[in-house]
Amino acid sequence: MTATRPCVLVTRALPQDIESRMRDMFDVRLNADDIPMAAGEIVAAASGADVIVPTVTDRFDAELIARLPETVRLLANFGVGVNHIDLAAATARGIVVTNTPDVLTDDTADIALSLMLAVPRRLVEGDRLVRSGAWQGWSPTFMVGRRLTGRRLGIIGMGRIGQAVARRALGFGMRVQYHNRQRLAVEVEHALDATWQEDLDVMLAETDVLSINCPYTPETRHLLDERRLNLLPRDAIVINTARGEIIDEAALARCLADGRLAGAGLDVYEREPAVEPALLALDNVVFAPHLGSATSESRSAMGEKVIANITGFLVRNDPPDCVDPQ
Ligand code: DGY
Repeated sequence: MTATRPCVLVTRALPQDIESRMRDMFDVRLNADDIPMAAGEIVAAASGADVIVPTVTDRFDAELIARLPETVRLLANFGVGVNHIDLAAATARGIVVTNTPDVLTDDTADIALSLMLAVPRRLVEGDRLVRSGAWQGWSPTFMVGRRLTGRRLGIIGMGRIGQAVARRALGFGMRVQYHNRQRLAVEVEHALDATWQEDLDVMLAETDVLSINCPYTPETRHLLDERRLNLLPRDAIVINTARGEIIDEAALARCLADGRLAGAGLDVYEREPAVEPALLALDNVVFAPHLGSATSESRSAMGEKVIANITGFLVRNDPPDCVDPQ
């Protein structure tokens, strides 16, 4: 590291332990109010900074990247998804991008499973009824849902989080199939008892519970469009803990409203924090406010990764979690 302390701009409030470690190590500019910063504010606050720590709520498009001060050499993202950063523009400017993989895998998979259980067992609907005081008591035909055991889970994207979802689903007795650009090693498939489906359309037709776990890229935008959603059986449910843009939300709302799908559990949205109004009107959708990595354990570990990436970059020019610009 240089003799003078590196200057680091952090765009959102981070866990206290992480902010205090950053204060000790860097000349850090924190966002105490935690209000998302506009592009112009980021450019002004980054004056003289070596590193910016953005999150998913910032949009580092080519225009903003072109306006960043020359001093900025690293975008050390707090989060694993980097779809909000134009990687090609960063690379062209000689700016390195890092992220925080691994440490949030289990917690994100837990949210996927929580939604997978909450939707068919009607947990949120039940919670609302009990709170309203309108519950009339147990009956054999009351609020009957569907079980997970024995149902066919289709996972799109079998990276770390997809595999963690598969491991959990095995414990619920689900039958796991997956669609991924590359087939997993046979040993991994065996360990997860998972079957590869090269053709996404074929997998969808044979899926009861669909879990979306792939990254959002230009290729995966609206991967689940109306045509593909219609391939799912009518009693299927859709779980999305990846990025909202992977599903055409308006088409999903139409399918759910018409009974072409049984339900959905969503943690992410196309235009966060806005949610498609047609979805909000439906009872068969359970909403979570982008909680995948929202545990104190994950958030601290993500902060530690950010610090390791900054020091790795500044000391050795070799940050541990460098994002491939491809
Ligand atoms: C992630 O790490 O990508 C989470 O979705 C928050 O950005």
